[in-house]
Amino acid sequence: MAPDPSRRFLSLFRPEQRRCTIVAGLMVASVLAEVTIPYFTGHVTDWVASEDEMVAISSLALLGLTSAITEFICDATYTGTLSRVFGHLHGRVFAAVLRRDLLSLRALGAGAVTSRVTTDVDVTHEAVANALLLLLWELARATLLLVPMAWVAPALATTTLLAMPVLLLLARAMGSVQQGLSQRVQEALAGATRVAMETFQAMATVRGFSFEAGAAKRYLQQLQQVHRLEATQAITYAATGWTSGFLALALKLGLLYYGGQMVAAGTITTGDLVTFLIYQTQFSSTVEVLLRYYPRMTKAVGSSEKIFEFLDEDEQRAPEGTLEPKVQGHLKLEDVWFSYPEQQEPVLKGVSLELLPGQVLAVVGAPGTGKSTLVSLVLRLIEPHRGRVLLDGHPLPAYRHLHLRQQVAVVPQEPLLFSRSLHANISYGSGGRSRAQVTAAARRAGADPFISRLPRGYDTEVGDLGTQLSGGQRQAVAIARALVRDPRVLVLDEPTSALDAKTSMQVEQEVLSAGRSVLLVTGRVALALRAQRVAVLAGGRLRELGNPTELLRPENRCWEPPEDGDTADQDGDTERWDGDTGSRDGDTENMDGDMKR
Ligand SMILES: Nc1ncnc2c1ncn2[C@@H]1O[C@H](COP(=O)(O)OP(=O)(O)OP(=O)(O)O)[C@@H](O)[C@H]1O
Ligand SMILES: [Mg+2]
Repeated sequence: MAPDPSRRFLSLFRPEQRRCTIVAGLMVASVLAEVTIPYFTGHVTDWVASEDEMVAISSLALLGLTSAITEFICDATYTGTLSRVFGHLHGRVFAAVLRRDLLSLRALGAGAVTSRVTTDVDVTHEAVANALLLLLWELARATLLLVPMAWVAPALATTTLLAMPVLLLLARAMGSVQQGLSQRVQEALAGATRVAMETFQAMATVRGFSFEAGAAKRYLQQLQQVHRLEATQAITYAATGWTSGFLALALKLGLLYYGGQMVAAGTITTGDLVTFLIYQTQFSSTVEVLLRYYPRMTKAVGSSEKIFEFLDEDEQRAPEGTLEPKVQGHLKLEDVWFSYPEQQEPVLKGVSLELLPGQVLAVVGAPGTGKSTLVSLVLRLIEPHRGRVLLDGHPLPAYRHLHLRQQVAVVPQEPLLFSRSLHANISYGSGGRSRAQVTAAARRAGADPFISRLPRGYDTEVGDLGTQLSGGQRQAVAIARALVRDPRVLVLDEPTSALDAKTSMQVEQEVLSAGRSVLLVTGRVALALRAQRVAVLAGGRLRELGNPTELLRPENRCWEPPEDGDTADQDGDTERWDGDTGSRDGDTENMDGDMKR
């Protein structure tokens, strides 16, 4: 069963128990001083009459000052505590995002994820900062006001208390409506953020297809939904205030009538009735504030629920592995099956492969056959649905995450760089590398020539460069990023597709001949020929596995030459893997040319 949301919410404050106790203590002290003031006020004239003005003035001043000072310290402590609690929550949610598996993050969408880390936490923080403190003050005030009320006129105090459940039930009912509405507002806001982010990320495409008006309309539709929900929220809020105000008035009239009859019967004096009514008026306004702010508080709890759902999923994750051995680089896939959530048909259907230490295994296949999916599995970005991926005989989840990342490095098919300096991008996640190490890696990756030509060299901010960095340059930086770690296993997904012929030859030489294990996904025949073994993927299965010179021979059934002779690029090896559908009567000269290299 899901835990009670309010209790979950309060559990956020558990680490700050000591500060919360201080806040509660200060609050009670301040309210006590405040509630006592009317009592002393009544006696001021008596003291003045007995020429004891100093006592009167000093006791009143002392009470007022105590109340004000304790209130000030209480507010300051409370704000500080909240800031710590929510700062910690921000951090927890962000860490949960970083640990979450990529597929579910993708399914959730960048908008919702960003919302969870930023807006949801902020909305909850703001609501709590405004509502919770006030609620606590008023609660303390109401409780302490009841004491003199019961002292002066017990029967009237009991009548007041008996009317309370009606008011509280109303507040509770309205509160749960507000809570539901607030969750829906959060969802609608996340939807609007998603549309905005998608549009901004694909600005070039939006412009290119003149979809500006369409994008604006989509965003507007999302916002309209937010407005509709917020309007309903405002109406519910106003209705709550109006109903509770009306009920409070009815109670007061009842008390006046009942009190009047008691005075007439001589049960209480007129003075007692007046004193009681002064306290009761204060009590009613306190309860009114409580009722008004209670829904705001439930709104905060509503917003926090989404955050908790997210954190709960994080807690259900299997614990991280502990292995940290020296890795030889023996990678093995055993009957691996995988399908994406949105697709019925598995992308990989029982693939078994082995990459021996120090060897190069090329994986080739038509576009969409699951090569990059295989790469993601080897990197443990996704988990196989069936079967296992082993490194040196141990399943990947058994390794410590950080250790695995240090041993297995990747050059992804579409490398992304961060808006930091080129140095920071190359040494990204490798625990800080010296300029000499970074430069050496960049040289081996063919990135040094273009970086050296930049006015600020390795300190150039990639963000400043923006889109000025070409696809090839990005790829070269990504190769340097992988090489600087000196990994035991290098996973390359079309690593040199965007490099020029000379650089790609140099880089290929560099990456393939360092004595480490390399899993090389490529559509280029010339590159695949450099591997010790080639695996051919087709229809999600391993179709062939063997010696590249044999497998990639033109007469072999799984090799399809390019349909036209358009291989006359710089190095004449642009044959791509075209899959297994076409005829085989193509141009075999290209193949020979490749095999010679
Ligand atoms: N995140 C995803 N969600 C759903 N389906 C996906 C996802 N990524 C890939 N696919 C699907 O899985 C299949 C294999 O994709 P994958 O990227 O592994 O192919 P590939 O062999 O690397 O292709 P290419 O040679 O074009 O890079 C494709 O049909 C693709 O549509
Ligand atoms: Mg791919």
